[in-house]
Amino acid sequence: MEIYRFAQEIILDAGEFIRNRMIEDFNIDSKMNANDLVTDVDKETEQFLFDKIEERYPEHRILGEEGAGADIEDADGVLWIIDPIDGTLNFVHQLENFAVSIGIYIDGKPYAGLILDVMKNDLYHAAYEQGAYKNDEVLHDIEESSLKSSLISTNANWLVREGINTPFIQVVKDARSVRSLGSAALEFVNVVRGTSSAALFYRLHPWDFAGGIILLNEVGGITTTLLGDEVRLLKTNSILAANKKIHGELTEYFKADEAFIKNHKEFHKL
Ligand code: IPD
Ligand code: CA
Ligand code: CA
Ligand code: CA
Repeated sequence: MEIYRFAQEIILDAGEFIRNRMIEDFNIDSKMNANDLVTDVDKETEQFLFDKIEERYPEHRILGEEGAGADIEDADGVLWIIDPIDGTLNFVHQLENFAVSIGIYIDGKPYAGLILDVMKNDLYHAAYEQGAYKNDEVLHDIEESSLKSSLISTNANWLVREGINTPFIQVVKDARSVRSLGSAALEFVNVVRGTSSAALFYRLHPWDFAGGIILLNEVGGITTTLLGDEVRLLKTNSILAANKKIHGELTEYFKADEAFIKNHKEFHKL
């Protein structure tokens, strides 16, 4: 539990670092395309966390979105998977609705998940089989629900992408309604809190889901790919994070679509 307590300390420190740093000027660059932004604050926050972990636990390994552990290919030992700012577009445009996300795995097995809603300073945290918390408050098991009476969360980009959008469109039609927050980690948090019944993503990276999976598991939820397969920890995956009932319903939409299955397989190099 010592590593878990240390992780709680440093994620709160990282939040404070971001809140202080964002008052000053920072540069904004683009990465893969003009809408894929990264700021100095993303990079500095990753370095902030990296330095703290390395100082305390030099033997641990760290994989981060902004370059830490880019050569890591296996999950041996203690592995920290870090997203220093999840929801960079929200950070840039809204100055809210972004998170720091940490997932800690030991020999590939879940150990602890932590997601900090930075502007609210609310910390969602869970250690494996120890329950989930919002700050000091215990989070209870989520309720089961079916699609027709549920709010779900997905990104409009997948609805306009030919080749994969057919099942997404049908899911949207059949749901009570759809929300889109713009931070995968906070979308996981909504499922963990039960304010959303499911979150669907066509592509997420390890740092987007590593913390959320562990949190959701502790409140009785489940995370798989959209086709119901096990998530590969160190690869990109499609992600379905949900309560168990709606999870079963939703995978049927994707499993029934041949074109989706084919394109999904090629895209994720399965
Ligand atoms: C992004 C956010 C966004 C999701 C993208 C992620 P970033 O993470 O979580 O909600 O739709 O796929 O890449 O780049 O802001 O850390
Ligand atoms: Ca990013
Ligand atoms: Ca992210
Ligand atoms: Ca990020």
